[in-house]
Formats: sequence, structure tokens, C-alpha cells
Amino acid sequence: MTAIRVCSLAELSPSSARKVVVDGKPVAVVMDSAGAVHALGDTCTHGEISLSEGFVEDDALECWAHGSKFDLATGKPRNFPAYEPVPVYTVSVEGDDVLVDVDQTISA
Ligand code: FES
Repeated sequence: MTAIRVCSLAELSPSSARKVVVDGKPVAVVMDSAGAVHALGDTCTHGEISLSEGFVEDDALECWAHGSKFDLATGKPRNFPAYEPVPVYTVSVEGDDVLVDVDQTISA
């Protein structure tokens, strides 16, 4: 599959996350505090919690349920209780369009 447009850049704001579904997979599209865009699997690996409903802190996405923080670059949790990573997908920005390819995992 090729990259799919998931939202416009204008729909994102720094330190926030937005849930989209790409090819049936829930994805958290995250803009970090520096304005860079990331795409991670939206489901926490500790429970069935949507990570995009959590908090973006600098370069991590924190699950609101029990506080595991997932690295936006690697998808790895930095603290328990989650210990397995979420996938990190290839994301690109073309003009005002944010595109995600869920077949291209950067890590995990
Ligand atoms: S469900 Fe996310 S840390 Fe527990």
C-alpha cells in the first residue's frame, strides 16, 4: 500500500495527537513539541487504550491509563507497566497534507 493522506497539517498542533484509521489500523498522528509529525500504533501495548487520548510530552506519547510513555521515534515504552513497543509508521508531509504508510514500519 502507498502512503495515504490522513489529515492536513493545519489540523495538528504542537504537543497533540489525533487518531486516524488507516487500512483498518488505528494510528496516532502526533505533532511533537518541536512541530515534527510522527505516526504510531494508537493502541497501548498494556491495555486497550487509545494513546491519542493521552498526552504528548516533548518526544513521547503518554498513555493516560497507567502512564507509560512511548518514544515517538522508536515506539518503545520508557517506563512500565507497558514493556512492548508500538509500531512507528512512515509519515511524510507534502504541502499541507500528512501522509502515512502503515505498511512501512520504521521500528517495532
Ligand atoms: S493501558 Fe496504557 S499503560 Fe496501561
